[in-house]
Amino acid sequence: MYSPIKLSAKYFQYWLFAANAKGHGVHSPFVFELIERVLNDDRDFYYFPLIEAARESYLQDHTVLNITDFGAGSRLNASNTRSISSIAKSKLKSKKYSQLLFRMVNYFGSSTILELGTSLGISTSYLAAANSNASIITVEESTEIAAIAKKHFQYLGLKNIVQVTGNLDETLPVVLSQNPHLDFVLIDGNYRMEPKLRYFEWLKPQLHEYSVLVFDDIHRSKEMEMAWKLIQADEMVTLTIDLFFIGLVFFRKENKEKQHFSVRY
Ligand SMILES: C[S@@+](CC[C@H](N)C(=O)[O-])C[C@H]1O[C@@H](n2cnc3c(N)ncnc32)[C@H](O)[C@@H]1O
Repeated sequence: MYSPIKLSAKYFQYWLFAANAKGHGVHSPFVFELIERVLNDDRDFYYFPLIEAARESYLQDHTVLNITDFGAGSRLNASNTRSISSIAKSKLKSKKYSQLLFRMVNYFGSSTILELGTSLGISTSYLAAANSNASIITVEESTEIAAIAKKHFQYLGLKNIVQVTGNLDETLPVVLSQNPHLDFVLIDGNYRMEPKLRYFEWLKPQLHEYSVLVFDDIHRSKEMEMAWKLIQADEMVTLTIDLFFIGLVFFRKENKEKQHFSVRY
């Protein structure tokens, strides 16, 4: 994992060279529209304050959990006990990026959504709240954490979430065999290159031209940056957008030539 100083330097570099938030210099109508209608959309939706209130209550909750496993590469896996508040502080996607996921699902009308890495269920809730007709399958290795997320989904009244508990190495092939068409996938469960690329390979046959793939933490470490480069180079991928903390991947065939964008967000 990069040091905070190195990561800040990388962020500064990204900010200097990325296309600005108005989309100037982006020669793709698809990306331009995505910037205008999704990245720059600052509307508040009904569920936003409800989900953020849940995040806030996690942050105040010092209950200690016995964690089966925090996942490879995590700085937090040295010990197997962790408080809910510390998980909420260090593991969850921020409000800004979680709400972007909501708007993307909304914009693309994604109906079968897969999330690798539920944690306490904040990003899952945003994905589920974006389209009540969608079905969200979310996988979490830790049964203790998954149980907390389950209570949170019930509290929010989100009924379109299927939770799968277990290591992705074993659970993902089963999930994929039951869900042959995936519209939207958030890969947020592992910080090592090999499993990340392996999961990507497993997912590929279930993806279609209009599927959207979101990779978390693409600049977190040298390994993650390498994984991101290999994904960008994959023959099925036609367009990627680097938002620094997450990367968006598209497979749209209207894109005759591969295009990679960095956009300030
Ligand atoms: C970064 S957190 C997910 C955060 C969540 N998506 C959010 O933003 O609200 C990653 C989660 O993936 C889980 N995880 C890591 N490796 C895994 C694996 N191999 N199989 C299943 N879950 C895994 C971890 O236990 C952790 O809870």
